[in-house]
Amino acid sequence: MKPVLIKGGRIIDPDLNTDCLGNLFITGGVISELTDTDSVTPNGSYEVINAEGMIVCPGFVDFHCHLRQPGFEEKETIASGSRAAAKGGFTTICCMPNTNPPLDSKETIDYVKSIAASEGHIRVLPISCITRGRKGEELADMEELAESNVIAFSDDGDTVMDSDLMRRAMERSLALGLPISDHCEDKSISRGIKTREGATAAEENIVGRDILLAQQTGAHIHIAHISTRGSVELIRRAKEQGINITTEATPHHLTLTQDIVPEYGTMAKVNPPLRTQSDVAALIGGLNDGTIDIIATDHAPHTDKDKQKEFAAAAPGISGFETALASLMGLVHSGQIELKTLIAKLTSEPAKIISDRFGRLGTIEVGVSADVTVFDPDLEWTVNTEYFFSKGKNTPLNGKKLKGKVIATIYNGIIVYRDDSLLVGEVKTGSLRGCAPQKRR
Ligand code: DOR
Repeated sequence: MKPVLIKGGRIIDPDLNTDCLGNLFITGGVISELTDTDSVTPNGSYEVINAEGMIVCPGFVDFHCHLRQPGFEEKETIASGSRAAAKGGFTTICCMPNTNPPLDSKETIDYVKSIAASEGHIRVLPISCITRGRKGEELADMEELAESNVIAFSDDGDTVMDSDLMRRAMERSLALGLPISDHCEDKSISRGIKTREGATAAEENIVGRDILLAQQTGAHIHIAHISTRGSVELIRRAKEQGINITTEATPHHLTLTQDIVPEYGTMAKVNPPLRTQSDVAALIGGLNDGTIDIIATDHAPHTDKDKQKEFAAAAPGISGFETALASLMGLVHSGQIELKTLIAKLTSEPAKIISDRFGRLGTIEVGVSADVTVFDPDLEWTVNTEYFFSKGKNTPLNGKKLKGKVIATIYNGIIVYRDDSLLVGEVKTGSLRGCAPQKRR
């Protein structure tokens, strides 16, 4: 494995509270040294990434995506999805169990792990079902699944509607020291939605129920893909009361509204649905005040056939890995969130939700596995789904001009994605101070 030198970038690591100009050295798969840009490069032969004008940060960690294998390989595979994720700057992705068969047993989890090890481009951590077959009727063998090293439990795509079953799932997850990632959708309401109030109540009813259950049980509940102002407010209050709760928002819920649906049709169909500008503003407020802990893509690839249906029958979901950073950078460029906040929500914060048992993630501290993302914050490009690595071309962003692009992704010290056409960085040193040297401890 050739050592890598990432030269002259702005190094931002919210975990270490680092924001400085410097060189990052990777040797033997780990972060080996951080030096000031003026320091002399040590002898040796390096793979050099010119990062002048670029941001260098920990590899992104996605706590919520769909890789579709086993069972729906025409939509995505672990190979195609993890390659798309690498292109999007992700080095760790957590995949949801709504596959066929669902990931509700040691065998299915072992299968995903073995494919990830042989065909995956980055770290793939499976999340297992809460209930057998995701049917919401009886609990899966959560103890066995925990022994198989799943990182969380979820019936994502469906809610465990039986409240007592959900309470028992929380008790078990607490004993096992793992979170539940909670898809909140009261199907008895969402089935016949006619009004916006109905639509938001479907989400908020279950957010409210599960806050109460988390309070009663003490379990760590992670609310998936929140989308409404009311959910933000419920979670803010729950956190104030010390309830063990975390939450995520997706790039699409943070940047798009329901107003695009008439134009983009099923490409803008997602679950939960896109909401109003007021909801988007509340989500951004929640990111900024810490109510929303992380950003997760909910990358949900589908075939053209699944989307080319009438709206009600079309599959919900957006293929999100390859546009996540750029669409979120729009929030930074328009001054709605700080660059450091964005990076924290994609790196150090999701790493906190994943137990240390799975390695020290979301940081570029000297000595840790070298998972690094290099991106140009200002580069403009036009989304063209023909060039997606994901099999899922389903996005309302096709043809859109975005600003911010991943230039290289390094996983375990290996450059797993590199946009060679762009490695001619302009020097944009600004007024940042140089990095204080850090050596291997
Ligand atoms: O839009 C969505 N797509 N939301 C979900 O909860 C599930 C996902 C999928 O699996 O396609």
